[in-house]
Amino acid sequence: MLALCLMAFAATVSADPPAAFEGRKLYVSYCLLCHGSDGSGDGPLAKSMEISPADLADTVHSSDDKLLATIITGRQEPTVAGRERHKLLNAAMPEWKNVFDRVQVEALIAYLRFLSRKNHGLMGDPEAGARLYQKYCQVCHGEEGGGDGIMTSLIGVKPMDHTNPDQTDRLDNSEMIASILDGKGRFMPAWRGILSESDVEALVSYIRLLAD
Ligand code: HEC
Ligand code: HEC
Repeated sequence: MLALCLMAFAATVSADPPAAFEGRKLYVSYCLLCHGSDGSGDGPLAKSMEISPADLADTVHSSDDKLLATIITGRQEPTVAGRERHKLLNAAMPEWKNVFDRVQVEALIAYLRFLSRKNHGLMGDPEAGARLYQKYCQVCHGEEGGGDGIMTSLIGVKPMDHTNPDQTDRLDNSEMIASILDGKGRFMPAWRGILSESDVEALVSYIRLLAD
């Protein structure tokens, strides 16, 4: 009976990928070259172009989403016509124009905001973490990490809401790893022996990107 419920559930839901998670994928392919993996500006291309992009972590939190979108796309509002480039910064920052659609620009901004919060760095591969999460964790923590998986109604577990940074940020990476390996309370299972250390690091990185 339980197995049937779980199968039906898994077949019917398909979650929206979290914005910062999608944004990181785009960032790794398009931005890391210059801005470096943590946004500090030491990417492999920055060195050979002899440019030094500013530390995104420091500058992004003083900009609103609209300004960031303008910086990324290079598109000006019609009201400031006459300015050819975004003129906001060094010409070495490419104008991406239509390379990204609106949702992708929002995802990039969500990831830049994640970098600028600098709370807990990513230590594993979040894409591997996403696959493991859907396999082992969503049954309790929910497909999108909101703490509302099918088990919450079947056996009354109250999992942590992984989309709530007030909850996840309280734990540093090593504390989160310890809870996943050794379990917590009555219903958070211990995964030692089932998941490897790098699996758990990947999961922790994915959980960090679930925070709104
Ligand atoms: C070819 C190198 C290069 C690539 C690729 C690149 N940038 Fe930049 N970026 C720069 C440079 C250089 C600056 C200018 C820094 C300055 O003027 O201080 C910059 C500045 C920025 C700024 C403004 C930072 C500030 O000081 O406010 C943002 C935001 C930004 N880039 C986002 C991105 C995003 C998002 C991507 C990927 C889609 C990206 N960049 C790809 C070189 C690059
Ligand atoms: C059987 C249900 C269940 C499953 C499956 C499950 N969890 Fe949990 N999880 C919980 C519950 C319940 C809590 C809250 C525990 C408490 O605070 O008492 C929790 C809490 C947590 C916490 C916070 C621990 C802390 O120290 O406060 C993390 C991190 C976590 N889970 C990660 C995961 C990951 C990663 C997976 C998959 C590998 C997973 N959980 C699978 C039920 C589950």
